[in-house]
Parts: sequence; C-alpha cells; structure tokens
Amino acid sequence: MLSSNTIALVKSTIPLLSQAGTAVTAHFYDRMFTHNPELKDIFNMSNQQSGKQHFALFNALAAYATHIDNLPVLAAAVERINHKHASLNILPHHYDIVGLHLIETLKELAPNEFTPDIEQAWREAYALLADVFITQEEGIYKTTEEKLGGWRNTRTFIVDRIVQESAKVKSFYLRSADNKAVVDFQPGQYIGVHVKPVECQNVQIRQYSLSGEKQPNGYRISVKQQGLVSNHMHSLKAGDEVELSPPAGDFMLQSNMSPKVLISAGVGITPMMAMLESIATLTQPPQTHFVHACINQAEHSFAKRVDTLTTDRIEINADIWYEQGEGHHQGRINLAQLSLPTESGEFYLCGPTPFMAAMKQQLLALNVAPERILYEVFGPHESL
Ligand code: HEM
Repeated sequence: MLSSNTIALVKSTIPLLSQAGTAVTAHFYDRMFTHNPELKDIFNMSNQQSGKQHFALFNALAAYATHIDNLPVLAAAVERINHKHASLNILPHHYDIVGLHLIETLKELAPNEFTPDIEQAWREAYALLADVFITQEEGIYKTTEEKLGGWRNTRTFIVDRIVQESAKVKSFYLRSADNKAVVDFQPGQYIGVHVKPVECQNVQIRQYSLSGEKQPNGYRISVKQQGLVSNHMHSLKAGDEVELSPPAGDFMLQSNMSPKVLISAGVGITPMMAMLESIATLTQPPQTHFVHACINQAEHSFAKRVDTLTTDRIEINADIWYEQGEGHHQGRINLAQLSLPTESGEFYLCGPTPFMAAMKQQLLALNVAPERILYEVFGPHESL
C-alpha cells in the first residue's frame, strides 16, 4: 500500500512524464543500452532507430501515475503489455535495470522537479508496479509451460514449408524440432520469433500473428517482407531453424454465438485467417462477415482460401475491396454499404493504425458500442 503522501508526490510528476520529450526518452534508452548492452537482444532496435517505441514506456508510466489510486482501470492495458513482455521473456531482474535507469534519467535531466522526496515516492511506486507485472508475467509463463506441448522461453522449430501467399507475403509452416506436441493457441494470438539477421549484432524478437489452424506439432505464420526481421524471414529455406516463444496475446476470438465481423487490411489479414479457419470448423458457426482491403489482386493474400471457406456456407460471407484495379469492390472499405450486425456483433480490426482508426470511426457512426470493437496493432501499441 502506498501512503497518500507518496500517491500525491507520484501524481505531481504526471506532466513531467507525459511531456517527456525525445531528449528524456532517448537519454533513458542510451543510458540503459550503454550500461546493459545485453538488453539490445530484447528490444526492437529498428524501433529504437526510428524513435517509435521511445514513448510507450513513459506514456505507460504517466498513465500509472494518473490512475495510481484506481488501478483497476488499467487492467486491460496491463494485460496487453504482460502478453507482449511474455513473448519477449522479460524476467524479474530486467525490472530492476529499467527502474534504475528510469530514476537516474529523471534525476539527471530534471533535477529541479525530480526532488529526493519524489525520487523516494517513485522508488516505492515503481516497485509496486514491477511486482504486479512480474507476478502476472510469471502466471503467463507457468500456465503456458504446464499445458500439453507447452514450454518456457524459446524452443527450436524447423521451417517445414514456405508458401508464397501474395506478392510480398509468405507463409511459414514451422514444426517443433523435437517433433513433439506444441501448445494450443487462441485464434488472434501471436508467437515471438527470435532470430539474428546477418546484418545485425543482436538477437531480434518480433511477434507474428498465427495465421491458421494449429499444424501437426507446429504453427503457421505469414510474414510481409518489409523490414530487418521480415527480410531475414523471407531469406529462410525449408529445413532452417528458428527459435519461438509460445503463443501469447490478448486479442482473441470470443467463443460465443455473437455475430463476428473480421475487418482487415493488407497483412493485417493474418489473425483474421486464424479466426476464419477456426469459425469454419464449427458445424454451427456464428454469423460471420469477413471484410478485407488490399491494394490489388497481386497483394491479395489467401484469396482462394477465403473463397473456399465462405462458398456454400450461408453463415459466413466475405467482402473484399481493391484500392486499385479490377475485381471485387473498388476503392476503400465503406462499412455502411454492408448489412452488418451493428447491435449484436463483435468487430475485430487489424491493419495499419490509420486504417483501424478509420474503421473505428465508421463503426461508431453506425452506432456500434466501443466495447464491441477489438483491435490488434502490429508494432508499438497506439490507441485509435
Ligand atoms: C513493450 C511498458 C518494463 C521491455 C512495452 C509497451 C509498454 C511497456 C506500454 C508497449 C506494449 C505494446 O506495444 O503493446 C512497460 C512498463 C514497464 C516495462 C510500464 C515497467 C513497469 C519492461 C522491462 C523490459 C521491457 C523491464 C525489459 C528490459 C519491453 C520491450 C517491449 C516492451 C522489449 C517491446 C517493444 C520494443 O521492442 O521496443 N512495455 N514496460 N519492458 N517492453 Fe516494457
């Protein structure tokens, strides 16, 4: 329990944290990577170069300070971070390192505002938060490890088969190297892929959504060639090895009979494929609308498979939009043109952030309740 004085002192730092500019965040990461270069094997160094991830930690700490007297409002956000951390195998001693560099950064860059009293309050508040994270993350590690086919940290998988799904997307069928069972996942979840691209000095970890039904002793992911790690993935051949952390993620298909609307753009189709495949196995599936946008036919992944899964199933239908070229609807998705279950449906979104923000606006304009809109962001999390 934090005292009311500690709570007040932590709250007084909200402006400092929420307005922490690039100077503060960059100082923190530079400091941390200089003293603890081993963490470069955990953090996404491409995001570090682009500055994309810099603000997530400080924004999260500002949110913590804001709601420190009513933490349950942060439960969903904390759960999302815990799953991300679990796929990165973040461990208790990492929290000491982050906590130390955080406090030292604030002392060094804001000596007048970050007084000794405030420093002491933050030490207590950070320890409490770290304790919540560590306990919840250990819960995820333990539950996954104890399930049939489960494991902790990483496990070696072999690339069994590679399939070109569209111009820039390849599917990788990954099989456990020991040829033993692998833990089940919920459609919508991701796995962590741990690789060391040749041009990189560090191990890099990326989360990829599972894109289909569980394979015999393995999984399928589908990767768009667009950066350091995905280039490395696209260079792999059948028989190569990759290290995987177990399935994680809180974006998952709810197993109830409410109508489902799966809306994706580009490679955001991947978690929707896992959802669609799982729905299609049901003898009595919920009413399902699969809505997808892509540039053109060449960039249209899983076109045939979606056709196969939706043809002759009265409960499942698909609407596809091409931004350019012939075939399907033309231009950008217009949800008002479709007859969607706006009152009772669950709406799942995945794609670039501006796309999801536009879809959310359209859904709100159709009177869909915000709590029925669920989404997955690829890359550092942003709210829509
Ligand atoms: C991602 C918060 C501790 C490593 C994130 C995200 C948030 C966050 C908000 C973004 C989640 C998303 O994109 O969905 C926090 C808070 C912490 C904490 C509040 C302390 C209480 C740690 C520690 C480590 C760590 C101890 C490891 C040393 C990472 C990494 C990512 C991440 C590697 C993924 C993004 C990237 O690679 O740049 N964390 N985190 N975090 N966190 Fe933490």
